[in-house]
Amino acid sequence: MKEYIINGGRALDGTVEIRGAKNSILPLLAGSILTDEITVLHNCPNISDVDSMIKILEGLGSKIIRNARDIVIDNSMANKSEIPAYLAKELRSSIFLLGSLLSRNKKAKVAYPGGCDIGLRPIDIHIAGLRELGIEIQEQGGYIFCNCQNAKCADVVLDLPSVGATENLMMSSVFIKGRTVIRNCAKEPEIVDLQRFLNAMGAKIKGAGTSVIVVEGVEKLHGVEYTPIPDRIVAGTYLIATAMCGGNVELINVNPEHISSLISKLSKTTCKVHIKNDRILIKSKGRQKSLDCIETMYYPGFPTDLQSQIMAMQTVSRGTSVIVENIFETRFKTAGELKKLGADITIKGRVAVVKGVKELIGGEVHASDLRGGASLVLAGLVAGGQTVVKDIYHIDRGYEDMSVDLLKLGANIKRT
Ligand code: UD1
Repeated sequence: MKEYIINGGRALDGTVEIRGAKNSILPLLAGSILTDEITVLHNCPNISDVDSMIKILEGLGSKIIRNARDIVIDNSMANKSEIPAYLAKELRSSIFLLGSLLSRNKKAKVAYPGGCDIGLRPIDIHIAGLRELGIEIQEQGGYIFCNCQNAKCADVVLDLPSVGATENLMMSSVFIKGRTVIRNCAKEPEIVDLQRFLNAMGAKIKGAGTSVIVVEGVEKLHGVEYTPIPDRIVAGTYLIATAMCGGNVELINVNPEHISSLISKLSKTTCKVHIKNDRILIKSKGRQKSLDCIETMYYPGFPTDLQSQIMAMQTVSRGTSVIVENIFETRFKTAGELKKLGADITIKGRVAVVKGVKELIGGEVHASDLRGGASLVLAGLVAGGQTVVKDIYHIDRGYEDMSVDLLKLGANIKRT
């Protein structure tokens, strides 16, 4: 098993270039099967979630070539419509394939998805939305069987603004004749990116980024060359790391608007954040004053995917911070590992109270999910002595080897 060994206490200095967003690339890969023509995605990170999605597409018959950071997809032979359990379990995003598989093959058999263990993560909203479109669905033996011979356009209202369900419904309605309206949609930037991607392929979708998306069915989509938006969570992770460690770090290829909720929090600390087009420069002297309250929300609120990292920052800030997790109920699991390093955290349900300590003390900790794992690396960067972060395969799902970027910034970190 691979691990990170970190000797903490160094300031960070230098530049990091941000790659395409995992949470965009996964639905875009799913969407690529809506055409038989070639799709090319640029600036894709080497992360294991992308590898898993590629494996799933190859299982359907797609031919995929990775050329440095480009992914070239030829779906002309992707005639299978089943995603077996052993592949779906690797990745929650396999559920996005339900919508695009149905649009392509009019039927699908998909095993229940896997992904991070951060709460219940049901798929009831996906299923209810697809049923509204006239898609027949049966759940049996760990599989979802769908048939869309009788699919029809509809006015669908989501119970919650689920990111995945919004994306799934966009992809399942692209070929349905007439106008499909999806209400109470998620407004995340990755949904706007999916709309831009599908429209570049010839779809007629509008409204992404607002709570109502309208899809006018078209007959066919064509190939496309596309560059996904930069990863706002990776960018946010490095901003928080610099705020904690101190130093001067410039991020290249970011969309500052996508992380405005984090930037607004950082502006309440003594960090200086300068934005210039697609670059963000952060200057920090290290240990910050605690943020009073951080509450995760749907976009444009504070992202649940940065909650663990901001918690790591609060463990070494001056004062007490309250963190409320509104999206995923078990996302405080990492607190137990942070406590092993000396953090003072009390959890009651969806609320965590973090009393900042002067210093964390290095030790052995285990990643149990992707973002929680990243937060342990951040904690290791400021802890006194040596920290060993185990089970980093969780981190590899969404970050290219973090040690490469952090070493460049002057951290003492080794991947073994
Ligand atoms: C996506 C992101 C994930 C991020 C999350 C919230 C991808 C690949 N993953 O996950 O990184 O943390 O958005 O921003 O894009 N829910 C239901 N029923 C459903 C679907 C969701 O109750 O059918 C609930 C979930 O349990 C959760 C909330 O809705 O409490 C939001 O989940 P959702 O937006 O669907 O997250 P994902 O699409 O899985």
